[in-house]
Amino acid sequence: MRYRSILISAGFLFLFAVLGTGMVAYTYDTTAERIADNERRALLRKLNEVVDTDSYDNDIFTDVILVQSPLLGTRAPAPVYRARQNGWPVAAVLSPVAPDGYNGAIQLLVGINLEGTVTGVRVLRHQETPGLGDAIEAERSDWIRRFTGKSLNNPDLDGWKVRRDDGEFDQFTGATITPRAVVKAVRNALIYFKANRHQLFAQDPEQEQEQETPS
Ligand SMILES: Cc1cc2nc3c(=O)[nH]c(=O)nc-3n(C[C@H](O)[C@H](O)[C@H](O)COP(=O)(O)O)c2cc1C
Repeated sequence: MRYRSILISAGFLFLFAVLGTGMVAYTYDTTAERIADNERRALLRKLNEVVDTDSYDNDIFTDVILVQSPLLGTRAPAPVYRARQNGWPVAAVLSPVAPDGYNGAIQLLVGINLEGTVTGVRVLRHQETPGLGDAIEAERSDWIRRFTGKSLNNPDLDGWKVRRDDGEFDQFTGATITPRAVVKAVRNALIYFKANRHQLFAQDPEQEQEQETPS
């Protein structure tokens, strides 16, 4: 009799363990999928902020390659999204990192058209101080929008610094480190684009390749 009740208890325990594990696995799966989906939507929204949606007709989100260059501020492969109209290259969106933010790396999206002019810059992720460095967010100030229309000729290379360093970009009051890091990262992204423009559009999606780094 005692033996039987132990067996029944063990059976219940087993059943609850299986049910519990199943529920956790199910919740994890559906939540992970939803998180990934939300991240995809957020990225697509940002991509569309840095390249004019009317200027391309391809699926920019899947027309992507991974590239590696010190000019992009990270050792990790960085995605490059390509925008095309009727199959012809229109613009590329690079994903450089400004490694020298006040509180660490600042992840950016930099849209550049074929002529090498910036079509838009947005911050993807950062840990800069609220009220000081976070003015790099488009939601907090207009600062990041001022890159649009700039290129390596406008201003010239020397001008790609904050005013405190005799360049042409504003710093923030009491916060020079963050904007200095972002200006340098966008400038380097433009240099990278100039040196690799043709390869960037020629590569097949998902290929990863070491790119040319100008000295
Ligand atoms: C708690 C704290 C947080 C700060 N956060 C930032 C920041 O996020 N970005 C930034 O550029 N400077 C930040 N600063 C200011 C920098 O230490 C530095 O003084 C400033 O960037 C230099 O700019 P300035 O020459 O215009 O003063 C912070 C300072 C303190 C004390």
